[in-house]
Amino acid sequence: MIVLGIESSCDETAAAIVKDGTNILSSIIATQIDVHHKYGGVVPELASRMHIEAITPVVDEAIKKANIRLEDIDAVVATRGPGLIGALLVGFNFAKSFAWARRLPFAGVNHLEAHIYSLFLSDPKPKFPFIALVVSGGHTNIYHVTSYDHFELMGQTRDDAAGEAFDKVAKMLGLGYPGGPIIECLAKTKNPANIAFPRTLLEKGSFDFSFSGLKSSVARYIHDNQIATKDEKAQIASSFQEAVIDVLSKKLIFAAQDKSCRHIGISGGVSANKTFVKKLTQKAKSEKIEVFAPHAELCGDNAAMIAARGYTMVQQGQLCLLEHDVFSRTKIN
Ligand code: KG4
Ligand code: ZN
Repeated sequence: MIVLGIESSCDETAAAIVKDGTNILSSIIATQIDVHHKYGGVVPELASRMHIEAITPVVDEAIKKANIRLEDIDAVVATRGPGLIGALLVGFNFAKSFAWARRLPFAGVNHLEAHIYSLFLSDPKPKFPFIALVVSGGHTNIYHVTSYDHFELMGQTRDDAAGEAFDKVAKMLGLGYPGGPIIECLAKTKNPANIAFPRTLLEKGSFDFSFSGLKSSVARYIHDNQIATKDEKAQIASSFQEAVIDVLSKKLIFAAQDKSCRHIGISGGVSANKTFVKKLTQKAKSEKIEVFAPHAELCGDNAAMIAARGYTMVQQGQLCLLEHDVFSRTKIN
């Protein structure tokens, strides 16, 4: 089955053609980072307008690159939520109209479930049951995944998402947007142990997160020590990143032990952080737990993961009707 997948929940307009749920024939991503960069974050109204401009050329390119004809497409799927409403509407309605015009099945995909599916598009893959972390600019969620369509939410952030904390700390240090890759790069030169930023673990047994205390602590440190040089910024980047990695790793390993899982899969923009993957892998190894991360191009938002998730929905007849709409927030399943 050849599926056209479309993603437009935030600041990437993406389209992909995926065969039989796992074979990526094409995956096109038009990012808006350059536009949002000067505002230090995503501006929803600008994002919607840019999705409108990009959607047709991006879908055209995905079809062309996959070297298929329009008639070869068997189903159309698109992100239904969570995300920015105006942005979601563009991709979802485009996909819905495309499917309607060609009399094809159409499914609306949960963006967070799709991030977990990016693990099934990569090699090696985690085996059920496993613990999944979706960690991005908008989410820090831990799930117990027992099958291709059963995701139990175990914990989530009570304030900032981990990626958001990276972005905000980068902004405080005047480093630009998005902050994650810049902080990871700067952090490499310094010993993280030099500044002891707080690790918020919340109540015993909780799998929730809170990153606002860490963020305030970094802000206070910058203010009190009048941080200005690149060297000083690199030290903060390193110690801040270590605090985030420590908390994420601890909770993931606790969750795996709690559910007797031997596999942990991470996904979402922050899973592109090589230092995170390396340190989590080391910590988990000593507990005999294996860690899986998507290939680099599947960590951030993309449409291949949407097509992969949508494929199983179409197969199971979980289709959307014309009157179905997008949603901005939801719990997974
Ligand atoms: O999944 P994503 O592309 O978009 C959504 O938010 O859904 O994730 C973007 C987030 C941003 O907050 C960005 O700073 C963070 O992922 N990020 C990283 C890295 N690359 C991207 N955070 C830490 N280290 C990275 N290398
Ligand atoms: Zn995402």
